[in-house]
Amino acid sequence: MCGIFAYLNYLTPKSRQQVLDLLLQGLKRLEYRGYDSTGVAIDGASAGDDILLVRRIGKVKVLEDAIGELCRGEAFNQPVDIHIGIAHTRWATHGVPSEVNSHPQRSDVENSFVVVHNGIITNYKDVKTLLEKRGYVFESETDTEVIAKLVHHLWQTHPGYTFGELVEQAIQQLEGAFAIAFKSKHFPGECVASRRGSPLLVGIKAKTKLATDHVPILYAKAHRPHGQPFPVLQAGSDGSAEFQPLEHKEVEYFFASDASAVIEHTNRVIYLEDDDVAAVKRDGTLSIHRLNKCTDDPHIREIITLKMEIQQIMKGNYDYFMLKEIFEQPESVVNTMRGRVRFDTQTIVLGGIKEYIPEIKRCRRLMLIACGTSYHSAVATRQLLEELTELPVMVELASDFLDRNTPIFRDDVCFFISQSGETADTLMSLRYCKQRGALIVGVTNTVGSSICRESNCGVHINAGPEIGVASTKAYTSQFISLVMFALVMSEDRLSLQQRRQEIIAGLSQLDEHIRSVLKLNSQVQELAKELYQHKSLLIMGRGFNFATCLEGALKVKELTYMHSEGILAGELKHGPLALVDDEMPVLMIVTRDPVYTKCMNALQQVTSRKGRPILICEENDTETMSFSTRSLQIPRTVDCLQGILTVIPLQLLSYHIAVLRGCDVDCPRNLAKSVTVE
Ligand code: AGP
Ligand code: GLU
Repeated sequence: MCGIFAYLNYLTPKSRQQVLDLLLQGLKRLEYRGYDSTGVAIDGASAGDDILLVRRIGKVKVLEDAIGELCRGEAFNQPVDIHIGIAHTRWATHGVPSEVNSHPQRSDVENSFVVVHNGIITNYKDVKTLLEKRGYVFESETDTEVIAKLVHHLWQTHPGYTFGELVEQAIQQLEGAFAIAFKSKHFPGECVASRRGSPLLVGIKAKTKLATDHVPILYAKAHRPHGQPFPVLQAGSDGSAEFQPLEHKEVEYFFASDASAVIEHTNRVIYLEDDDVAAVKRDGTLSIHRLNKCTDDPHIREIITLKMEIQQIMKGNYDYFMLKEIFEQPESVVNTMRGRVRFDTQTIVLGGIKEYIPEIKRCRRLMLIACGTSYHSAVATRQLLEELTELPVMVELASDFLDRNTPIFRDDVCFFISQSGETADTLMSLRYCKQRGALIVGVTNTVGSSICRESNCGVHINAGPEIGVASTKAYTSQFISLVMFALVMSEDRLSLQQRRQEIIAGLSQLDEHIRSVLKLNSQVQELAKELYQHKSLLIMGRGFNFATCLEGALKVKELTYMHSEGILAGELKHGPLALVDDEMPVLMIVTRDPVYTKCMNALQQVTSRKGRPILICEENDTETMSFSTRSLQIPRTVDCLQGILTVIPLQLLSYHIAVLRGCDVDCPRNLAKSVTVE
C-alpha cells in the first residue's frame, strides 16, 4: 500500500514550483497509506533537460526540504501551459527504503519513462530475466523497475504505438496487483495510468461545465484482426459508436490512490476499474482503454461528484483508522497470500525463505518470539506448526525470553514476529539468538525495519500500513504467514496431503468468510451497549481458539481500559471459575473442532454457576446456541483457520466499547504504535 499522486495541467498555466507544491500537498494527504520514502518527477527546468527526479528516504517533509534546496531559481517560476508531474509515497514491499528503491522508478539513465506504482508485481523476476537478456541493467531492488523498463522495451520494439497502447501492452505481461502512473520524455504533456487490484481514480477540474458526465471505453482486442499484434482501436458496446474522448479546454487532471488527495481541487472523479488504462494526450483529451470487452461492462466510466469532506475520505468513511483496518481484512489477507499461494496447483512459495527450507527442515526446534499481538499470532499457529512440521515448537514472549537467558543452539530456527519490525524486546532477542548461531527468520510488516535487516531470511506479511495503535489486520496477516510456512514445510509429506488441501481450500474462502463475519458489526455494537459499563470481561476458549481469547482480551484492555482476561477453558476449574456469577460478563468461543466436547463442558460449568455467557459459535449450530440467549454466528471453516474468524467480532467489540466509553480509539492512553524501548 502506498500513495500515488499525479497532476496534469492542460492550458492552465502553472509554474514548476506550483506543480511541485501541488504534488507535495497531494502526497501529504496520502501519507497515511505509507511513508518510508517519497519521490516526484517533473520536467527539467531548461529546454532539452531530461525529466527531473527527486527521491528521498523518509516522510514527505524530507522530500519537501530537498525540493526547496534543489528546485530554485527563475526557471521554476516560469509558467508552463501543459505539464505533467507524478509523485509517490512508498510502503516498501521489495527492497529496503532507499533513494534508489524509491519511486518514481525509471527505464534508463535518461529517465525516458518513469513510473510510480502501488502494489506488488508477483512475476517481476521472470520479467526482469527477460529484460536483462535484452540488455537492461537494473539499479533497484524493487519489483516496480520492471514496469518502467518493460514499457521502454515495448517502445523500442513497437515504434508507432501511442503511450496508452504501450502501457496497455505492458500490463498484459504483469501479474499481481498494481496502480501505476507514467510520465515520459518521449510523450511530453501526456500521462497514462492503470490499475489492477490497487485503487486509482482520476480527478477532473475544469473552469467551465464539462460537456459530458462519462467517458466511453475504447476496446482493443475485440476488434483486433487475427494475427495482428497491433491493436486497432474502436469504441462502444458494439464497436459502432463514435468514440469521443473527454475533451475540454483548460482542464486539470489528477490521478490519485484515493479521493483525499484530490478533494481540495475537485469533486468530479472517475474511479478506474481493474485493467482500465486511462490516457491523457497532448491535446488534453482523456480516454479510457481496455483490451477486452466483457459482457457486464457498462462501456463507459461515469464521472461522479463526491460529496465528502477530506477527513471523512482519509479514513474512507470510517470514524477511526482502527475500524477501517478491521474492515480492510478481506483485502489484506488476500494481499498476504498474493503471489504465494497458488490455489490451482495447491502450491505455496515463500520467496523470502525458499532457499532456507532444507536447513529449516533439519533443525532441532522452532522458536517463535514476539510481543503483544504478534506473540498471539504465534500462539494461534503453534498447534498447526507442530502438526505440519512435526518439530517441537516453542512460543516465547520476547521480554521473558531475555529475562530467562533461554538456552539457544546453532540448530534452532528462531522466528521473530513484529508488525513494526522495531520492537526493542523482539530485536534484542533476535540479536541474542543470532549471537548463538541460530537461523533468524523475520516475519514483519515493514520492509527495511531493523528486524528485517538483521534477519537471515523472512516473510513480509504485506498487510499495508497499520495506523491504529491496536493491531488488527497485521494480526490476521501474521497468522496467515505462519500458516503458509507450515504448508510449505509439509509440501512433500504424503500423509499430510489431505490436511493441506483442506487448509488451502479454507484459505481460498477466507476473504468471503471475513466479509460475512464483518456483517455482525451492528449486532456486536448492540452487545457493546450491554457491556460497556461493566468493570471486567472474561473471554474463554481452548485449542485453536485460545489465542483469540488472549488477543480479544488484549484488545479490550488497551482500547477500553476495562479489565479483561483471556482464559484457557481447560484452566477454568483451577481458579477462574470462582469469578463466575450472574453479574460477571463472560464471552465463550465454542466451535465444532476436536475440543468441542471439552468446550461444552466448560460452557456448562459456567451456566451452572448462573453465568450468562455470550457465545461465538458456528452458523446454525442450534445445539450450542441453546445454551445462551446471545450468540454471534461465524461461518464454518477448517479448525486451524477459525482463529482468524473468531478474533474479528472481538476486534469490533473492543472498538465499540471504546467508542461508548469515550476513549481515543486510534491512540489509546500510555501506548505507542512502535515500542522501541525495553
Ligand atoms: C497490539 O494491539 C499492541 N499495540 C501491541 O501488543 C503490539 O502488538 C506489540 O507492541 C508488538 O508490536 P510489533 O508487532 O510491532 O512488534
Ligand atoms: N512493490 C513496490 C515497492 O516495493 C511498491 C510498494 C508500494 O505500494 O509502495 O517499491
